[in-house]
Amino acid sequence: MALIELDHISKTYVTGEVESVALREVTVSIEAGTLVTFVGPSGSGKTTLLNILGCMDKPTAGEARIDGTLLGSLGRRQAAAFRGEHLGFIFQSFNLIPVLTVYENVEYPLLVIRKTPAPERRERVLRVLEAVGMLDHKDKRPDQISGGQKQRVAVARALVTNPAVVLADEPTANLDHDTAHRIITLMREMRDAFGTTFVFSTHDPRIVEHADVVHGIEDGRLTGNISAMQGGHHHG
Ligand SMILES: Nc1ncnc2c1ncn2[C@@H]1O[C@H](COP(=O)(O)OP(=O)(O)OP(=O)(O)O)[C@@H](O)[C@H]1O
Ligand SMILES: [Mg+2]
Repeated sequence: MALIELDHISKTYVTGEVESVALREVTVSIEAGTLVTFVGPSGSGKTTLLNILGCMDKPTAGEARIDGTLLGSLGRRQAAAFRGEHLGFIFQSFNLIPVLTVYENVEYPLLVIRKTPAPERRERVLRVLEAVGMLDHKDKRPDQISGGQKQRVAVARALVTNPAVVLADEPTANLDHDTAHRIITLMREMRDAFGTTFVFSTHDPRIVEHADVVHGIEDGRLTGNISAMQGGHHHG
């Protein structure tokens, strides 16, 4: 079985008498250790899909599994525990805590899960900061570093708990093209270094070339594996 399995996932939001279909029977498997992106226009269902994978929302129909765990069956507390132990998150707007240093921002998820003794915590924080190239900036606050550097810190924060999966909803939307490219390249490097599976969304077709697998999404439907359609070099 693949690390992530989505089986006929549908999601309908109901607001008063208005129904809005966000996902329509999305079926997809994601292998461990891959960098996978969902590319689609505004309103296509990207955030909805990532929220379901992130145990922040439940599908109206269908089943989503990560590492065999049926996400829809988790209660609130179980979902929170699952997120803390198995998932990392990177956000479009970085979401660093402004009063904490770079070091403290990266340490924060370890303090939340309360399972890592102090010496190991320090070792892990320093290791991921070094991996993303931000060790020299560890004592700065977020307002003292650039947008690209903030997102590097956010990547380190997502990885510090050693999650199986890192989910990122438009992680490069607030970055210029070159910086966006570098963040995706960093994800690849982290995938290689830690074996982490990365799933990210974007509406920018230009930044997808470094993903292993590119799924197009439109109006809540997967429109096909874009990388396979573009590349098409399948030799036996
Ligand atoms: N909480 C909600 N209540 C009602 N409708 C919603 C809600 N969240 C999303 N939708 C609707 O579901 C559809 C998919 O939205 P979603 O946010 O998943 O798209 P998206 O691809 O992330 O878009 P964007 O690129 O603008 O972030 C849209 O039609 C949207 O209006
Ligand atoms: Mg969105």
